[in-house]
Amino acid sequence: MSGFAAVDVIRVKRDGGVLSDGQIDWVVDAYTRGVVADEQMSALAMAILLNGMTGPEIARWTAAMIASGERLDLSSVARPTVDKHSTGGVGDKITLPLTPLVAACGAAVPQLSGRGLGHTGGTLDKLESIPGWRAALSNEEFTAQLRDIGAVICAAGSGLAPADRKLYALRDVTGTVEAIPLIASSIMSKKIAEGTGALVLDVKVGSGAFMKSVDDARELARTMVELGGAHGVKTVALLTDMSTPLGRAIGNGIEVTESVEVLAGGGPADVVELTLALAREMLDAAGLPDVDPGTALRDGRAMDVWRSMIRAQGGDPDAPMPEATEVEVVRADTDGHVAAVDAYAMGVAAWRLGAGRARKEDPVSVPAGVVLHKRPGDPVRAGDPLYELRAERSELIPAALAEAARAVTVAARPPAAAPLVIERVE
Ligand code: URA
Repeated sequence: MSGFAAVDVIRVKRDGGVLSDGQIDWVVDAYTRGVVADEQMSALAMAILLNGMTGPEIARWTAAMIASGERLDLSSVARPTVDKHSTGGVGDKITLPLTPLVAACGAAVPQLSGRGLGHTGGTLDKLESIPGWRAALSNEEFTAQLRDIGAVICAAGSGLAPADRKLYALRDVTGTVEAIPLIASSIMSKKIAEGTGALVLDVKVGSGAFMKSVDDARELARTMVELGGAHGVKTVALLTDMSTPLGRAIGNGIEVTESVEVLAGGGPADVVELTLALAREMLDAAGLPDVDPGTALRDGRAMDVWRSMIRAQGGDPDAPMPEATEVEVVRADTDGHVAAVDAYAMGVAAWRLGAGRARKEDPVSVPAGVVLHKRPGDPVRAGDPLYELRAERSELIPAALAEAARAVTVAARPPAAAPLVIERVE
């Protein structure tokens, strides 16, 4: 692939034109190899953000990102494979109970996950709260665990879509994360390269999500569903609400504890509802539409798979979670109903307490985070605890308190009930 100049490719997109297949293949490959410079790719990413891409351009860009690395072969796994991807939210621990649940129902779940950045948490950070648990697996360990247990959650190896790894870091610092063609190709290139047979997308909408409007979320979902189909991966998407955090726990260790409660048959109603809704979609996409995931949650089979999955990666499922040394309980000052708990502001509060990181290399705190005592719609009396902030260092509390105070509003009347699952796209 030669004969192109980066500046010509940039000019085409800057002027609202359509990139040719050859230009796309060349620019993605040349950027991965360091031939196209970061400043050139930044300009192209900004032109894509401003002028968009056609369906065929997005499909070709995604294929070029997949071709930048290896594609895993899961054909040795006897069960149907199906994965889930969430576009990211606050208190979104659904992957933790969902992966073993779907495996307990007969499918195999190859879940390559990431770490949190900014106000959204990362699945690997949460699981690393479990003493001994290891995120890095070789491709052979990954496939063997999928064959033996049917459930793996681990870090994506460096061989998978390296073009995306480089481009995502660049987008993060150039204000170009929010381009729908770039988000769709980034997510789908990794999921297609991972080798899953089917995929269910949880596209978040609301203050705590990338997509603030249902229209944008629908466009992202449709783009990804089409990309999956074009690469032979049966893909469906649910648009789900992320204006309120999921569950009561926002933080690493406390989200693991809440997930284990769900696996034990309890846990917050919204976490159980979304786990079951996504499990049904995954089982349907995997060709197992008649299996009821509610039974596997109630009778302990999902918990058994969770314990095996954690042990297989060196973790101790019975180890207690460390407690925070600093706990600040915030109480209601009036009677009424909780009208809103804003997901973005609560995500920022948890992040300021140490649950999240500002730079990729920062460590995260295991016990830090926010525990909600009340959720939207709950009645409150003056003096009732609304939420508590947990940290390892007292100096982190004041800035988090300011964010959390902005997040919660108490009003005379309860808010109108809003559905958690907003729409289905297939
Ligand atoms: N998650 C990804 O993997 N890529 C994006 O571009 C956005 C969210």
